[in-house]
Amino acid sequence: MADRSDLHPFPNGWYVFALSSELPKGKVLARAFMGQDVTVFRTQSGQAHAVESYCPHLGAHFGHGGTVVGETLQCPFHGFRFNGKGACVRTGYDTPAPPKAKLRTWHLREQNGFLLIYHHVNGEAPDWQVPSVDEQDWTPLIYKSFVLNDHPQETTENSVDVGHFSYVHNYQRPRETRAFEAKGHALSTGYAVLRSLNFLGFSLRRYDLFFDIQIFGLGYSIVNIRLPLFKVVARLWVLPTSIDENRIILRLALRMKKWPTVLGDLASRLMGRYIFYNFVKDASQDFPIWENKRFLRRPALAQGDGPIGKYRQWAKQFYSPTECDAGKSNTELIADTMEM
Ligand code: FES
Ligand SMILES: [Fe+2]
Repeated sequence: MADRSDLHPFPNGWYVFALSSELPKGKVLARAFMGQDVTVFRTQSGQAHAVESYCPHLGAHFGHGGTVVGETLQCPFHGFRFNGKGACVRTGYDTPAPPKAKLRTWHLREQNGFLLIYHHVNGEAPDWQVPSVDEQDWTPLIYKSFVLNDHPQETTENSVDVGHFSYVHNYQRPRETRAFEAKGHALSTGYAVLRSLNFLGFSLRRYDLFFDIQIFGLGYSIVNIRLPLFKVVARLWVLPTSIDENRIILRLALRMKKWPTVLGDLASRLMGRYIFYNFVKDASQDFPIWENKRFLRRPALAQGDGPIGKYRQWAKQFYSPTECDAGKSNTELIADTMEM
């Protein structure tokens, strides 16, 4: 049975709450996010805000009838209105707002088509950001999501688990193209592998596939992909966000660099879809393993595994010492695995 009792379910960091396209002006979106009930709304001026889902007046849920009025969120029960800072700016009866009528808020950033929220177990403000990337000459974002029994640290570890590339994904001859580097909240590495081009079950030829991986915290990874044979440069996002103690929503998204030809736009979109289809297929090969594995804090690591020990050492920073119920902090638990 999947057992992750040694990992706190909600590591600190930036996590995707929704795609920007899911939140047009005037829309209210309520979701379970990192074990909390969070509501995001977009005001008439286009600004998105994240607040707790329960109204401090008498507890109604904004996700069930909450509306945007101008720059505020209006509760469905008695019409109290709240601004993006969580302050009550009007009661439903035009009486003074009660001082206690204050909503908890979260730091929210919108970039590259994603609404990112900063989660910190003690409610601390973010001291780092996820960098935004250039979008000019890239195809529109395509996207798919999966709800899995898993954890962001575990899915992100997949990027450095070199040993499984050939066993699970049939990528051959993995080799490092960019040395593992952990710098603050970011981690980068890169690999080249060989893949087979198959048709009707026959392997037609093998081709090189290059992954350049940039990871920002445990919820936001960008994989820059190069396939020289097809002159393809693509960017894949891997975005796990915890829903509750056991489940994550894993979002996969892709843009392809447009080919500079007459039919470049259409052809690039079609090629982007084909590449994305294949990467979704590859990622789903991991799902049954992820959903049923346990987190081992003392894994029996071997040469050839890839930098799993170094990855876990880096990942420690996303847990606060107060997070472990068992008395021993998660930081210490993970530190125990650092033989490699
Ligand atoms: S419960 Fe929200 S206004 Fe009364
Ligand atoms: Fe994998």
